[in-house]
Amino acid sequence: MTGTAPFHITIQHRTPTPATITSPRHETFGWHCSAQDCPKRRAGYGHQDASLEDAADHERRQATALFTPGTLVVPVGPGGSGKSRFAAMFPSSWVVCLDELRERVSGDAGDQSATPEAAALQDLLVPARLKRGLTTVVDSTNVEARVRLGLVDHARQHGQPVAAVVFLTGLDTCLARNNRRPAGRRVPSPVLRWQREQTLAAVSLLPHEGFTDIRTVGGEQL
Ligand SMILES: Nc1ncnc2c1ncn2[C@@H]1O[C@H](COP(=O)(O)OP(=O)(O)O)[C@@H](O)[C@H]1O
Ligand SMILES: [Mg+2]
Repeated sequence: MTGTAPFHITIQHRTPTPATITSPRHETFGWHCSAQDCPKRRAGYGHQDASLEDAADHERRQATALFTPGTLVVPVGPGGSGKSRFAAMFPSSWVVCLDELRERVSGDAGDQSATPEAAALQDLLVPARLKRGLTTVVDSTNVEARVRLGLVDHARQHGQPVAAVVFLTGLDTCLARNNRRPAGRRVPSPVLRWQREQTLAAVSLLPHEGFTDIRTVGGEQL
């Protein structure tokens, strides 16, 4: 893939709040799917509850159809770029999240001292699922080539495909979302900038790292 790679991911998430009321009986809510062949594109609903339920269901079906079953899905992106939002489209048992493992180990998702044990748990869970041919989403930044290579290795050892999903969300958006987080969950701004630089650098590295599928999300502010 090069810097001019097409926009691959077909799902655009919008905060699902009512956006337009076109008539009293026909409301259009603030989400849509950008897939060319999606029959629900710009779908309208009479009730917000129906819209939210259908949107969530639709999103799940779209997400699970994105990758070959058994794929190891590796989001790559800085804090606040939308990795966990993306991972949340998949059934929760498919997702291995370093933050969540840190919380299980230490009671605090932001406790960096728990990272080695959380990473050890991740290294147990990922191969256990790949061995069984189960699609697995690794919800962590994965901005370092060293970390990605370890994941590619797991997939290779079990003969499974491995997909990178690069989050090219604009820096301002990431910083603003990061600032809205509770203090203990905030990434220091210089670290977040570094993570974003690493993410941009990853775009040209990934094709040489053994990924079988490379997708990008966002990038409009590049
Ligand atoms: N495409 C999007 N549109 C609107 N809000 C989003 C989008 N992606 C993420 N968000 C919101 O931004 C915040 C940070 O996203 P998150 O997925 O937690 O980032 P990350 O896991 O990369 O740190 C969350 O509140 C999330 O709901
Ligand atoms: Mg996250």
